[in-house]
Amino acid sequence: MKLFIDTANIDEIKEASRLGLIDGVTTNPTLIAREGREFMPLVKEICQLVDGPISLEAVSSLSNDMLKEARDLAHIHPNAVVKLPLTRDGLIATKQLATEGIKVNMTLVFSPTQALLAAKAGAAYVSPFVGRLDDISHWGMDLVEQIITIYDNYDFETEIIVASVRNPLHVLEAAMIGADIATIPFAVIEQLIKHPLSDIGVERFLKDWEKVEKKNKR
Ligand code: E4P
Repeated sequence: MKLFIDTANIDEIKEASRLGLIDGVTTNPTLIAREGREFMPLVKEICQLVDGPISLEAVSSLSNDMLKEARDLAHIHPNAVVKLPLTRDGLIATKQLATEGIKVNMTLVFSPTQALLAAKAGAAYVSPFVGRLDDISHWGMDLVEQIITIYDNYDFETEIIVASVRNPLHVLEAAMIGADIATIPFAVIEQLIKHPLSDIGVERFLKDWEKVEKKNKR
């Protein structure tokens, strides 16, 4: 399973990249706004930090405007992926961009039939938002399971990015059901690494090793 980081924060991307396990980055207008920086220099810097797909979201509502914006975003870097919302105009634009070889990540996906349309439009990625569904008492991960079944039934090549990840259990479930990718906030990546028994174990081994070193000095 590929792991993307869901942030536009340079320090978080740098820190997570040091692990050597980050395969891509997803951003959205909220994450960009949080950084309080100009868009272009920020995303160019992000593209230099991670050698993998970098999702950059278009903010137009009409398909013609989306197309123009998407082509501009795609020119920023060879790894740029254009994020478009799963709307009527988003689907129209995705279909056209796919014919031009521009990769689209269809975002804000909340139903399996939306995901079916995204795949038929030729989206390279589809992003079901599991956390936002959980927030309204729907099992977000059920949606991912349904999309996997549909895509397997018809051999769609669209990759499933489990998005709106809120905790390590979302990542666990994504891996258990075979999602292609999880895009994970920095704080959750940190949670994935930690286990109290690992910390206790390291501490105990180091204490015991001190005894060996003391004996060796005698
Ligand atoms: C994914 O591409 C989105 O940027 C992100 O996962 C949305 O997460 P949120 O629901 O926590 O805002």
